[in-house]
Amino acid sequence: MQTALDLSDYNPAVDLARAETMPARWYIEPDFLSLEAEKIFYRTWQPIGRLEDVMRIGDYFSCELLDQPLVIVRNHAGALRAFYNVCAHRAAVVAQGRGNRKSLQCRYHGWTYDLDGKLMRAPEFEGVENWRAEDVCLKPVRVEAWGPWVFVNLDPAADPLASNYGAIANEISAAGFRLDMMRLIERRDYLIDCNWKVYVDNYLEGYHLPIAHPGLFRELDYDQYRVETHRLYSKQHAPIRAVEPGEVRDRRYARSGAAEENALYYWMGITYFSTQTTLDDLDFRGYHCSYIQG
Ligand code: FES
Ligand SMILES: [Fe+2]
Repeated sequence: MQTALDLSDYNPAVDLARAETMPARWYIEPDFLSLEAEKIFYRTWQPIGRLEDVMRIGDYFSCELLDQPLVIVRNHAGALRAFYNVCAHRAAVVAQGRGNRKSLQCRYHGWTYDLDGKLMRAPEFEGVENWRAEDVCLKPVRVEAWGPWVFVNLDPAADPLASNYGAIANEISAAGFRLDMMRLIERRDYLIDCNWKVYVDNYLEGYHLPIAHPGLFRELDYDQYRVETHRLYSKQHAPIRAVEPGEVRDRRYARSGAAEENALYYWMGITYFSTQTTLDDLDFRGYHCSYIQG
């Protein structure tokens, strides 16, 4: 069902010098979050987990995109599959947590699905008429791997992931990084009591850099800090300052050689830093992961 909302109290197209923040009600009225779910969270590619958790045949993990329970699995042919984690019988989940299995079994009445979501076994259903087990399947969801991450898109008609973020992969590899070699080294979880857009607003501004991040400020050429906006992602970048002769301070970024090097920050998909934005309480549950090229 499409949510009808009056959006006339904000115009995103005005000149930047006269731009205003969105009205407060856009952040606090639950109807807006429902509209955002329909227009954004359910229709765009969102990172949902890590590829290293589903490397072997039979590896799976359950997860949620907003209020939608999902299961990601590596099938017997070696392909990634994703399904709504909803049993076709009475809607219990068919997988919990993560692990490795030859099939997915619902723990309510024991219906068992193969790793392509097809129903293999429904106990005591012999003799039930007007029903064919071969017609029953978990509802599939679009899934793709990109670098060390697994992405899903709840819109079956969505464009492939690469068409959303194609330029990023090239830019990162041109900068000398192997995305597929990135390994998780640390994860920190935060519960931030705000609407998700408040968090994104703050993430996307470099304005707080001189005061809030003085160490980083010393390493980047702030005068050349730029934000590029694209339809489905944005890129913030600034040249890294060369290490001064005799400098002993620990640095976040070390510029090697004479080449122009940039710090690159991409914002790709709302859930890149947040896997659970609950529809009930508008709280933002974020996590920040650090990766290293392994
Ligand atoms: S709800 Fe899954 S087997 Fe009944
Ligand atoms: Fe910051």
